[in-house]
Amino acid sequence: MDTQQFIPNSLQNKTTKTSFTWKTPSNIALVKYWGKTDPQIPKNASISFTLSNSHTITTIDFKSKNNSEANHNEINFELFFEGKKKEDFKPKIAKFFERIREYCPYLTTYTMVIHSENSFPHSSGIASSASGMSAIAMCLMSLEKSLSSVELTDEFIYKKASFLARLGSGSASRSIEGPLVVWGNHPAIKGSSDVFGIPFPYEVHEVFKNYHDAILLVDKGEKQVSSTVGHDLMYNHPFATQRFNQANENLATISEILQNGDINSFINLVESEALSLHAMMLTSNPYFILMKPNTLEIINAIWRFRNNTGSKVCFTLDAGANVHVLYPANESETVTQFIDNELSKFCQKNHYICDTVGLGAIKL
Ligand code: PMV
Repeated sequence: MDTQQFIPNSLQNKTTKTSFTWKTPSNIALVKYWGKTDPQIPKNASISFTLSNSHTITTIDFKSKNNSEANHNEINFELFFEGKKKEDFKPKIAKFFERIREYCPYLTTYTMVIHSENSFPHSSGIASSASGMSAIAMCLMSLEKSLSSVELTDEFIYKKASFLARLGSGSASRSIEGPLVVWGNHPAIKGSSDVFGIPFPYEVHEVFKNYHDAILLVDKGEKQVSSTVGHDLMYNHPFATQRFNQANENLATISEILQNGDINSFINLVESEALSLHAMMLTSNPYFILMKPNTLEIINAIWRFRNNTGSKVCFTLDAGANVHVLYPANESETVTQFIDNELSKFCQKNHYICDTVGLGAIKL
């Protein structure tokens, strides 16, 4: 894989003080990524809807170090989250910067002050690593663009941002563009790569444009098992090979479905993917369960509603107890009513977030 293309060779140090702000979205996988090898290479390809309302806004202020100042080999930054200094988030970001320093040599020539905030409530159980890492990656690419003596194309900027974000959190590679992003090399997806995400390269059927996702907040607490630990448990997992094959087959199938608009097959595949992801957790050793009783209540209520009404609503799950309720735009009113009447009672404080498919990162 050609990662050399991401090492800049025509940088000039013309900027002493600058600042960039980006708004980047979260995403929800339809075919899941679970299992990887070093350095963040996925064991199977995945695809996600980019979201819109669930996002992170990050500003990075860059100031070039003067000669008397700090060590020029060190990466120096301060981090503020929702206006407050956040020392406990720093190690994760420091590790991310170390991983990408080869590709971003300017990281050591500036001191950085990072301000970040999420649109979704803190500790909502919605992973902020995808939107958080992609926002930092976009700010770095804005700096790189301003330092580069050759013109960087938007295509290159997005590709490298996805490449960098992936090194912070795998699924973050899918949080740069939209509305559908594939990450992981796959023969059915032209241009796909293990080291960055690409927009789904084929024409998407009308029904999947503007899809809705209501995120039902079943459990806002910290996850008992992090996704890093979960990914690691796929080493020596008894069903790992079958799972990676299943996911790759599902990716080929969903590529067809997204083009031909077969919504019943979409429902079947997406729900099966969600349950297969959680089946990997149930059958890891040590085993663990991230679903809660109310996760199952919601799933059963969705199945009942679909049987009774012929609705095309379905669910998917992330690595947590919250339920993503997916439905086409033309069912927006009936499904919202259904959620209010029958599902919100299973959410903490009846809380859910209405989101729709979005187009990706926006510079502010
Ligand atoms: O990006 P990570 O390491 O947090 O892993 C994300 C894994 C899932 O969210 C469970 C699935 C996915 O493909 O997003």
